[in-house]
Amino acid sequence: MLQPIAAFDRLGTETAFEVLARANQLAAEGRSIINLGIGQPDFRTPDHIVEAAKDALDRGEHGYTPAAGIPSLRAAVAVDLKRRHNVDVDPNSVLITPGAKPVMYFAIMMLGEPGADIMYPNPGFPIYESVINFTGATAVPIELHESEGFAFSADEVLAKVTDRTRLIILNSPSNPTGGVVPAEEIDKLVAGLAAYPETIILSDEVYSWILYGGSQHVSLLSYPEIRDRLILLEGWSKTYAMTGWRIGYGIFPPSLFAHAERLAVNSYSCVNAATQHAAVAALEGPDDDIHKMVKAFDERRELIIRELNNIPGVRCADPGGAFYAFPNIEGTGFDSQTLQKKLLEEAGVAVVSGTSFGAMGQGYLRLSYAASSEEILEATKRIRDLLS
Ligand SMILES: Cc1ncc(COP(=O)(O)O)c(C=O)c1O
Repeated sequence: MLQPIAAFDRLGTETAFEVLARANQLAAEGRSIINLGIGQPDFRTPDHIVEAAKDALDRGEHGYTPAAGIPSLRAAVAVDLKRRHNVDVDPNSVLITPGAKPVMYFAIMMLGEPGADIMYPNPGFPIYESVINFTGATAVPIELHESEGFAFSADEVLAKVTDRTRLIILNSPSNPTGGVVPAEEIDKLVAGLAAYPETIILSDEVYSWILYGGSQHVSLLSYPEIRDRLILLEGWSKTYAMTGWRIGYGIFPPSLFAHAERLAVNSYSCVNAATQHAAVAALEGPDDDIHKMVKAFDERRELIIRELNNIPGVRCADPGGAFYAFPNIEGTGFDSQTLQKKLLEEAGVAVVSGTSFGAMGQGYLRLSYAASSEEILEATKRIRDLLS
């Protein structure tokens, strides 16, 4: 059998895509499947954004663009960050990427090697741990606890930072828990990191717009003392319901930007032109569609949390952001993987095992509530029936 290099034995995956494939297969066989597995808004991209892409195609925007993105989009990102977080960002530090995912890949590939430690949230987005392991760096978990609303404790993080810590990955609001880190913890962490000036921070803020119940998002960009060692990951997928367009961005410190751009040139050259013009329209257009979407998510959040807490053996904390519920299922007597499988195969409900997000996810499931209220009600009824 043909074999790639040994490092591939350490490369993980995002199980949500496997669950999606199995759910689609069962649906194609005629089964009734409710998909709360994959994390994407169930809304259409707003019309004015779609129109901007069509106009770009009609105008003949069919060629390569600069690897880092079209200048108007890089400038629009800087204006948007000023508007939202009141921070000054040089458009030259903005790298437009096909989805935000390459930003984490580039950051980890750039900094990970045997002998280096990279800290990452656990439970957390699975690609962090996967790529850290791929590079041969040591993946050091930042353990997130239900009892603390799945927000990291700055003291716990700082206790694990050493001179070997090359990169710390943070993600708030979080996938898979919906946890939002309070400003005081971030203040404390940033203050403590003054003692480790060589440690770089990757802040994944892809859910920064999706907040509930008065939760506030604090961007790591608003801490001038770490700006020279901060990589920001943001994007359009979740905010503008644009997962399939594949567009996101990274803000890189000057010393790292050229390396990230070179990785872009070595892999995908540039993001497709029409999508970049659509992304300008998204940033420059009204925010109404975002507010509508977040309001709908908020209503569904209330519904799913209430329904999950009515299921025997299930307990679910109230998420402050993103669109995931992360219920504790220890009381059901099943482990997470077994319950994920049973729910899909026997009840036709696609969810993702908490263990897909790291070892700390044992005892939990992730349910995306980017689905209609009817689907949420039917899914939670099926789960209750299976477990009663
Ligand atoms: C925490 C987190 N970061 C980044 C991404 C990447 O999103 P995309 O590549 O679609 O922009 C996702 C997508 O699920 C996510 O959940």
